[in-house]
Amino acid sequence: MRILIAYASKNGTVEKCVARLCEQLRGMEIDAVNLEKGFADPSNYDMVVFGSSVYFGRLRRVARSFLKNHESVLLKKPLALFLCCGLTEESEYYLEKLFPQSLREAAFQILYFGGSLSTEGLSFLDRLLVRSIRSSLYEANLDNGDYIAPSLPGILPENIDRLATYLRKEACRLNNQTQKR
Ligand SMILES: Cc1cc2nc3c(=O)[nH]c(=O)nc-3n(C[C@H](O)[C@H](O)[C@H](O)COP(=O)(O)O)c2cc1C
Repeated sequence: MRILIAYASKNGTVEKCVARLCEQLRGMEIDAVNLEKGFADPSNYDMVVFGSSVYFGRLRRVARSFLKNHESVLLKKPLALFLCCGLTEESEYYLEKLFPQSLREAAFQILYFGGSLSTEGLSFLDRLLVRSIRSSLYEANLDNGDYIAPSLPGILPENIDRLATYLRKEACRLNNQTQKR
């Protein structure tokens, strides 16, 4: 049972999520490929997990290209989708709108893994943009003119572990199916 985890991570959040997922799936045959740096062909795998972060309201460009180029193959595989973003309250919307409908319908799991609005380790430009996203989250307290600091997002390990459990179950189910044939 070969599993591909194809993902797009620019600044490392998705990468950290994938590291945890791989840790939870220890003992299974997994290839994890960051599409920002490498190439993956889903047709060589029995199951595919696909994830990306959100930048400017869209999945990463390499993520969109991957989904477009491999859509017909992905539709034939057991597929799980996830994303990371900084605006937690937008995550439901992103999960619904950013993945093609055909793939959402085919996927056995679609999950939000959390995200980061930390400026640590970012390029100058990304730091500026994350600061501006963060300042848009401050809420004015109209009674006394104070501002309420936003609660910043983080990675959601429980969602990553949930996916790991599903993947193990799905792998068992597929193995049983193959043995019966
Ligand atoms: C330039 C820039 C644009 C971003 N745009 C969005 C956005 O439109 N919506 C959102 O929810 N988060 C946005 N984010 C936050 C990222 O989705 C978040 O930091 C995520 O954890 C990045 O994952 P990665 O490090 O794996 O690429 C943006 C971050 C940067 C640096």
